[in-house]
Amino acid sequence: MTRKYADAGMPIEITLDPGTYYRCTCGKSQNLPFCDESHSGFETSPIAFTIEKRQKVYICGCGLTGDPPFCDGSCGISLAGRG
Ligand code: FES
Repeated sequence: MTRKYADAGMPIEITLDPGTYYRCTCGKSQNLPFCDESHSGFETSPIAFTIEKRQKVYICGCGLTGDPPFCDGSCGISLAGRG
């Protein structure tokens, strides 16, 4: 079991506008869960992802997801019925 990041330990619910985002994986960002380029000098890279329309998403905060940067339920927390 490899955790690339585990800053929150649970899904991070957030509503995002269309655009490209970068999920921090080094844990040094002051703007978690997003990258603020604090990873300089670390071997990790942020995970880029694009949102096409304004929507609520669940960003993985445990590092176990198989669908980064989104929570896929590997944390054991069900997102069913959360919209
Ligand atoms: S928070 Fe990581 S899989 Fe749910």
